[in-house]
Amino acid sequence: MHVIADYSNEHHRTAVIALWETVFGYETAHNTPALAIDKKLAVNDGLFFVALAGDEVVGTVLAGYDGHRGWLYSVAVHPAHRRRGLGARLVHHAENALTGRGCMKINLQIVSTNESVKTFYEALGYSTEPRISMGKRIESNIAMPRG
Ligand SMILES: CC(C)(COP(=O)(O)OP(=O)(O)OC[C@H]1O[C@@H](n2cnc3c(N)ncnc32)[C@H](O)[C@@H]1OP(=O)(O)O)[C@@H](O)C(=O)NCCC(=O)NCCS
Repeated sequence: MHVIADYSNEHHRTAVIALWETVFGYETAHNTPALAIDKKLAVNDGLFFVALAGDEVVGTVLAGYDGHRGWLYSVAVHPAHRRRGLGARLVHHAENALTGRGCMKINLQIVSTNESVKTFYEALGYSTEPRISMGKRIESNIAMPRG
């Protein structure tokens, strides 16, 4: 039985770092799990959720809302807990939080090497849109935090 809860403590921090290292294994500095967690907590927007199996953190979703669009990030389920509907529940949980804030449209990005995950989002009502995604790193804000 999985419970979805607000991210709220140091245990969550340690476990989310381990989960993201397992699931994403990003090598870019701005995606370093500890840094991403600290930056999200600093915003204090209440849009960081974990899925728990007992005390164990087995899933995450981050959402963002800027008054114009909602965004989903870091949708992750531990490999041992997949295909039981937890990923869908995490997305719905984040969608409900965004909807409650008045959000009219939710976006997400998929890295090109992970295209197969489109099937997951299509099952949840998302569709591919004709956009070119661009980004720019702010190097001066990318500093390694504590572990
Ligand atoms: C994507 C992810 C979160 C899905 O989690 P999950 O708990 O297995 O998802 P669900 O059980 O809720 O799946 C819901 C539906 O999505 C689809 N789906 C999920 N994973 C799929 C896959 N690997 N291939 C095809 N369809 C998939 C299916 O239609 C599924 O329904 P079904 O099991 O009844 O067939 C999980 O596979 C994951 O963590 N992947 C690695 C991280 C990642 O890629 N995150 C997305 C970044 S954009």
